[in-house]
Amino acid sequence: MIRGIKGIKDITPDEMPKWGVVERTAHALAQTFGFQEIRIPVFEKTELFVHSIGGTTDIVEKEMYTFPDKDGTSLTLRPEGTAGVVRAFIERGLKTYESSRKLYYIGPMFRHERPQAGRLRQFHQFGVEYVGSSDPSADVEAITLLWRYFSALQLPGLSLELNSLGQLADRRAYKEELVSFLKTKADGLCENCRRRLEANPLRALDCKIPGCREATNDAPFLTDFLSASSKEHFEQVLQGLQAVAVPYSINHRLVRGLDYYSMTTFEVSCSALGAQNAIGAGGRYDGLFETLGGSSTPAVGFAIGLERVILALPESTLPPPVPWVFVASFGEKGRQAGGTLLDSLRSDHVKADTDYNTSTLKTLLRSADRLNAPYVVILGDDEVDRNQVILRNMKTKEQEIYPLDSASSVIRKRLGFR
Ligand code: HAM
Repeated sequence: MIRGIKGIKDITPDEMPKWGVVERTAHALAQTFGFQEIRIPVFEKTELFVHSIGGTTDIVEKEMYTFPDKDGTSLTLRPEGTAGVVRAFIERGLKTYESSRKLYYIGPMFRHERPQAGRLRQFHQFGVEYVGSSDPSADVEAITLLWRYFSALQLPGLSLELNSLGQLADRRAYKEELVSFLKTKADGLCENCRRRLEANPLRALDCKIPGCREATNDAPFLTDFLSASSKEHFEQVLQGLQAVAVPYSINHRLVRGLDYYSMTTFEVSCSALGAQNAIGAGGRYDGLFETLGGSSTPAVGFAIGLERVILALPESTLPPPVPWVFVASFGEKGRQAGGTLLDSLRSDHVKADTDYNTSTLKTLLRSADRLNAPYVVILGDDEVDRNQVILRNMKTKEQEIYPLDSASSVIRKRLGFR
């Protein structure tokens, strides 16, 4: 038997109602906020991710699924969506002049991480990218959408943390200071952080290893190095969030694991999840368009891990099951009339099904039971002769008789359809 790949899950039909809610809510809310859907390829040239996410990040160093194409070009399964959206934006000229463009996507991403609850090698993100505005209100709008999405799904135990990474020049000054500080603590740092001390010192701030946390306890704050305009931007984001009552706290350690960020960064964690409690995150990435060969274009966005949303999703957000009908038809005339009735029920938007593998009332009722059908239409040769159908409520066992020729519309009303 050939098995699936570790960390890459099937989503079974039983799990699909939750996925339905999570995806429908994402589409509806993103569109309410004025975002348009974009679909980008699942794989791209490796260099796209190396140049955008950064050569010294965990994703690029260890987690990418990279393989040569037949002509030797190095390709990679997308570990995230932002790089592909920016590439598509530049390549397809999606820019609308003097105005911003708001895009969203839902789809699978791939990272070769150690699988555990809430951490997969193929996982799904709902992401949005607000392209073309440097106004702090765009940050506020993205963060508000993120927060409202979780509220709509009634996820428990959420907290939103924010930080500002400033502009490149602010970060340069800070990095110098941080590297000198970290050098005095190098013995306490993990191997990874020590190795990246010069190239990517900020990562030491959010390294989860206890030694690194302790060593960085008294590290200087990035926010103390922000220029006046970076400070002003951050302040306006905070005020904007207060104005729409989105609760937040500031976390000076929040630096994010992708190199393209500048200014505002944010992350939402969910206490209902285990170790992998980051449920959505994002930030501003004003320099990425230029890095990838486009013109200078400010942008801000986020992505949400949908498997983590599913893990935290309360049952109460699931819609009640739609009442539906199992057509138990038997006998020659019964089966023929049953086929016609099935078709008219479906044309009337009533979910209806049958089982062609059995042909007696007893076995048909057993099939209906197995499928958890709330209602069964009984239709044998005798019923056809009498121009009748029997509607059986499978829970109460009550049976009602209706005329066969108007059965579809009567049953539709009986099930509560308007
Ligand atoms: P990220 O923080 O790498 O950001 O991922 C966003 C979310 O994806 C995480 O908060 C988590 O919920 C989910 N996630 C990440 N890795 C896994 C995994 N292995 N298994 C399950 N879920 C996972 C980004 O991807 C950026 N592109 C977000 C962004 C968009 N920034 C600006 N625009």
